[in-house]
Amino acid sequence: AENLPVIYTDFLIVGGGIAGLFTALKASAFGKVIVLTKKTIKDSNTGLAQGGIAAAVHEEDSPFLHLEDTLEAGAGICDIESVDVLVREGPERVRELIAAGASFDMKNGSISLAREGAHSKARILHVADATGEAIRVALVKQCADQSRIEIIEDQFLVDLLGIKEGECQGALVYDKRLNQSRLYISRATVLATGGAGQLYRYTTNPDVATADGMAAAFRSGCELSDLEFIQFHPTVLYSQDTQRFLISEAVRGEGGLLLNIHGQRFMEKYHPLGELAPRDIVSRAILSEMTASGSDYVYLDMRAISGVKERFPNIYKTCLKRDIDIEKDLVPVSPAAHYTMGGIKTNTAGETGIQGLYACGETACTGVHGANRLASNSLLEGIVFGQRIVDQAEEIMYRRQVKAAEIYKSFQKGLIYTPLSPSINPETARTRLQAVMWENVGIIRSEQGLKEAHQEIEYLYNHLADAQDPLAYLEMVNMLTVAHVIIQAALWRRESRGGHFRSDYPQRDDIRWLKHTSFVNC
Ligand code: SIN
Repeated sequence: AENLPVIYTDFLIVGGGIAGLFTALKASAFGKVIVLTKKTIKDSNTGLAQGGIAAAVHEEDSPFLHLEDTLEAGAGICDIESVDVLVREGPERVRELIAAGASFDMKNGSISLAREGAHSKARILHVADATGEAIRVALVKQCADQSRIEIIEDQFLVDLLGIKEGECQGALVYDKRLNQSRLYISRATVLATGGAGQLYRYTTNPDVATADGMAAAFRSGCELSDLEFIQFHPTVLYSQDTQRFLISEAVRGEGGLLLNIHGQRFMEKYHPLGELAPRDIVSRAILSEMTASGSDYVYLDMRAISGVKERFPNIYKTCLKRDIDIEKDLVPVSPAAHYTMGGIKTNTAGETGIQGLYACGETACTGVHGANRLASNSLLEGIVFGQRIVDQAEEIMYRRQVKAAEIYKSFQKGLIYTPLSPSINPETARTRLQAVMWENVGIIRSEQGLKEAHQEIEYLYNHLADAQDPLAYLEMVNMLTVAHVIIQAALWRRESRGGHFRSDYPQRDDIRWLKHTSFVNC
């Protein structure tokens, strides 16, 4: 490590989605901030978020009602203290977003609030159907105006750095532009690296969502919690691509209907809330209709929504490019992996089990989502817990800044591994992993399928070749590491709840399973 370039900063933030950018902006009041992105600042789930951000801002709404809905969706696994923080501090953080330039849609002089599944009130602030992008652009602009914030693109997180066990002093990163490794040494390191959607064959997530932060934290000794809970978004535009285009739940909030390929409505058969039932129920219902009719999709009927083109301009445009006119045609949709409820375990201050290491946004498991995230709570979580980390900034600034020479350790347990017989290139391994995760660790799971998936992952791990493309290799190691934890957690939980459904244990079992899964590297 002695010969590598070294960059010192007070706050090192890995990830450029809403959680990373908001934390950066707030932390810059206290010290120097570096934000690293794996690809460009545009590549994150935030920019793709359509529906919006949930917050109890209406006078007829209250944090308590938002708490009730979040707990209900979370199916018994939410951490009430964290949810309480989310819903109480949420409205204030959203007002700060507005002050930062996010101009949410208005109606008759007040903020226009939309309805989404499992919310008892209309409480989703939105910017047409491209809310995340509007927030992202506003935050990037604010960050660019701050001289204390530097955003550095094309930086791949290799591993976390420490001077002793249980402490983090920054990160070992590979600079893809200069083709060299470098050390970033910081007083606080914040992982805001997003989720694990790319572990699945079909996902709404961009190609950067490969669970790198979770894997690095795991190698360094952090706990990964609740990873069996993966949310599959029910209505994603059907296509042959791995990354698929989301059709916002807000469409169903405005009256969009689900029809099977025979043109019949079916959701009432599955849940009294019909099209607005919790996501896991809608996803399984769609899967069951697809299986019954031997079709790869069902239809979303948006034709009766008045002003559909104006309310959902982005969806309108994207569908039209594929010759689907949402005003006249039925839209073929099927579920895809969307959100990782679990992740790096943190407390309500965003602290992990490692001193100096924090996590926020999708990569963290703060406990607010439990077994199933309530729609539009994810952008909110990013800003609420980002602020919670910054609440400790004064103490962080008193932490000693170590020197590069003191760094003796990167926690690379998973990386120094030598494959038995390197014969599978990372690209092939990725396709195989995505296939087995989709088939066996997807919407419906069983012990046998999970065990087969486990074997396949061991096989890929043992045969992964690192020769041609070291970064693709490291990314693949990350994906396999986290896939392994997801499978272990899913095997362990012998019941069905929220985003985890076992065909061999289809009932929820509150007597035995009202608890979290938690895994550490050993
Ligand atoms: C959507 O617009 O349906 C996505 C919102 C979310 O995932 O919270």
